[in-house]
Amino acid sequence: MMIRKSTLSQFFRSELPLILAPMAGGPTTPELVAAVCNAGALGSLAAPYLQPEAIEKQTQAIHALTEKPFAINLFAPSIDPALTKEQISRAVEQTRSYRQEFGLPDPKVMAPFSENYEEQFAMVMKLKPAVLSFTFGLLPQKHIHEARALGIYVIGTATTFEEAQQLENAGVDAIVLQGVEAGGHRGIFDVTASEPGIGIMDLIKKCTGRIQLPLIAAGGLMTGSDIAKALTAGADAVQLGTAFLLCEEAGTSHPYRQRLEKSQGADTELTRVFSGRIARGIKNRFMSEMQPHPEAILPFPAQNVFTRDLRKASADKGSADFLSLWAGTGVGQLRAMKAADLVEVLAAELKSCVSNIQQSKR
Ligand SMILES: Cc1cc2nc3c(=O)[nH]c(=O)nc-3n(C[C@H](O)[C@H](O)[C@H](O)COP(=O)(O)O)c2cc1C
Repeated sequence: MMIRKSTLSQFFRSELPLILAPMAGGPTTPELVAAVCNAGALGSLAAPYLQPEAIEKQTQAIHALTEKPFAINLFAPSIDPALTKEQISRAVEQTRSYRQEFGLPDPKVMAPFSENYEEQFAMVMKLKPAVLSFTFGLLPQKHIHEARALGIYVIGTATTFEEAQQLENAGVDAIVLQGVEAGGHRGIFDVTASEPGIGIMDLIKKCTGRIQLPLIAAGGLMTGSDIAKALTAGADAVQLGTAFLLCEEAGTSHPYRQRLEKSQGADTELTRVFSGRIARGIKNRFMSEMQPHPEAILPFPAQNVFTRDLRKASADKGSADFLSLWAGTGVGQLRAMKAADLVEVLAAELKSCVSNIQQSKR
């Protein structure tokens, strides 16, 4: 297996090995991705919910704003679950009163429940970004080979040491270690598995020295001091999502922003209610009222499509009650500023913590 350990560092300035997490559902606009890249970190475009034409358009928009390398992110392909009539009627009945509040009809529950992965992957190969990152398991082996043969740097996501091992064996170039603190969906390979619950520092320690690939720490990292701790524990780089949600360039919706601004930090929880997959977000009405009814949650990715009309209606009304308010445990430390300024602040904080980390790692 070819290991290209040295090349991860080419994507960011040497004193700040920082990746902007891909954030599907709107936050990682081309403007945010480009601003982060221009500031010397690696921006990521979240493409999991985009059709191929939209991936192409947003990639062109990024190219118009920066000459720097960036990542495109996909979900590993998932299988549409076979749903029984009983499952569907439980889900529909449990959510009917919510839909009535918005004047929405009962939804038709029909596959397909996700974008066409093969078409997305083909488009990404056509666009040839510097980096392809992915989550939710493994990409088909031939796709990892195809991307690497084109010179694309391939990054997978692991929530346990065992998943990191599988990614290493599959031949990726680097691994995002996602701790339980992370905002958004958990990258757990087995969609039906329970939460492994491993914090980022433990996960780094478990993998350091046992996984030979560069390790990128993610989950609850909000400040330069958090970054310093992850690097000191053994990570080669960090990936931050929540920290960028209030940036001017982020596509975070208005009610989502308002809720983030108010957050004290202790109000995130793990839930399957929005998509059928475990994810971390700020607790809201839909989360707390649906949590006691696991029997009315469809399997991933069906539940994601099933709740889309409610999430949209909630956003249109300016309410956060039915939105998936993805955020990590660090949400109480959010800073609202331009992305380039946030990158500078993080760099300065990191420098004042451990100005020599990068030198000692070289
Ligand atoms: C709003 C939001 C959307 C996300 N969407 C994706 C995604 O599309 N693909 C992905 O690989 N990770 C996604 N993640 C997870 C991030 O890659 C990363 O693991 C997480 O943001 C790190 O934790 P933090 O938010 O506490 O920094 C998302 C995270 C958030 C907060």
